Amino acid sequence: MIERTFVMIKPDSVVRGLIGRVLQRLEAKGLKIVGMRMIRMSQEQAGKLYAVHNEKPFFGDLVGFIRSAPVVVLAIEGESAVAVVRRVIGATDSKEAQPGTIRGDFSCSKSMNVIHASDSTENAAKELSIFFAPSDLVEYSRLDAKWVS
Ligand code: CMP
Repeated sequence: MIERTFVMIKPDSVVRGLIGRVLQRLEAKGLKIVGMRMIRMSQEQAGKLYAVHNEKPFFGDLVGFIRSAPVVVLAIEGESAVAVVRRVIGATDSKEAQPGTIRGDFSCSKSMNVIHASDSTENAAKELSIFFAPSDLVEYSRLDAKWVS
């Protein structure tokens, strides 16, 4: 099933100059970028994105971190994209993330863990709607589509 998911390249990646290398992993896997924008996240957007962590002790630090530098928000499309992207990025705590995953290769931190991706199709739809209008997303075919899925 072709799915869309929400991905965000976090402030630590941006200030470390990792945007291109992170995007390359997603493109190399055969995933299609159908929306992309660099933003400084608002307090309201951060509150919506991380509403589920509202009561957690790390919530304030999480919002502070996510607003500390720009992020790149992405809409990613592909076969089983939600689960595939989660496997490509690796475990939330980068210390536990397998080598070969984005977090496993680029971070040792749980809070500054390079990249975020939705954990379900329901959350993907919610998270995409915080950052993209339907008209922001584009349609095209990758020339290698039949070779990578
Ligand atoms: P993310 O995939 O963006 O989803 C929620 C984020 O909260 C998570 O990545 C981590 O960056 C952060 N997070 C989760 N648990 C903790 C924790 N125990 N301490 C600090 N940050 C955390």
